[in-house]
Amino acid sequence: MRKTVNQGYKQDTVLQAARCSQKADTMDSSKAQIPSEFHIRKGVPGDARFLATLGRKTFSDSFAADNRPEDMAAYLDASFGPGKQSLELADPLSVFLIAEVRGRAAGYARLLKSPVPPGIRIRPERPIQLVRLYACRQWIGRGAGPALMRACIAESRKRRCDGIWLSAWDRNIRAIRFYRKWGFSRVGTRPFLVGNDRQNDLVLWRPLLAAPQ
Ligand SMILES: CC(C)(COP(=O)(O)OP(=O)(O)OC[C@H]1O[C@@H](n2cnc3c(N)ncnc32)[C@H](O)[C@@H]1OP(=O)(O)O)[C@@H](O)C(=O)NCCC(=O)NCCS
Repeated sequence: MRKTVNQGYKQDTVLQAARCSQKADTMDSSKAQIPSEFHIRKGVPGDARFLATLGRKTFSDSFAADNRPEDMAAYLDASFGPGKQSLELADPLSVFLIAEVRGRAAGYARLLKSPVPPGIRIRPERPIQLVRLYACRQWIGRGAGPALMRACIAESRKRRCDGIWLSAWDRNIRAIRFYRKWGFSRVGTRPFLVGNDRQNDLVLWRPLLAAPQ
């Protein structure tokens, strides 16, 4: 694999991910250059530490303000860490897609072959779950989300899936609007635990038709 190359890469990108939001706090996005193209690559085993840092940071940036610190800490500790992301990277049913601009992380997505949750009114034969889709703070509204979604759709087609499902916090209005724009519609709800806080998630589904879109 790309172990040797990736070792240097890995250390750099961990730092880059960690710097993500520091830049965001000081960046005037109206003056920043919007890249015409994001480079999307698949996660490899050497990315575990980088993805743990990126996952933790982007989740925290997105939701810390709306959750109790103790719930947030419990969720982050249970979900992100090199060991956890190593296992996810090794899972043949799972794939990480990482968006980069000039070698720096702009966001990531994770897909996982998994059935739609019980109680949902559709029963597709070959569904895939979009488990995570996160743009780094400074790339929100600047193309990383759409680039990752395009890549997720292409990858899901390549895996011959008949549709993509996901669940999104019903208070995450921006993400829900984004998913609707990309052809997702509501097929149910499910509870989602952040620490001890039981939240309500919308379950959304997007069929994948034969023709490219
Ligand atoms: C989800 C995400 C990847 C989408 O990427 P994005 O760059 O925001 O996507 P876009 O800007 O193309 O689309 C967002 C839409 O929401 C709209 N929007 C922005 N703020 C909004 C708000 N407060 N209320 C409603 N809509 C809002 C935008 O105007 C845009 O719609 P438009 O294109 O019709 O104007 C990105 O927002 C993100 O990383 N969010 C934080 C992490 C997250 O919530 N992930 C999803 C977990 S389920």
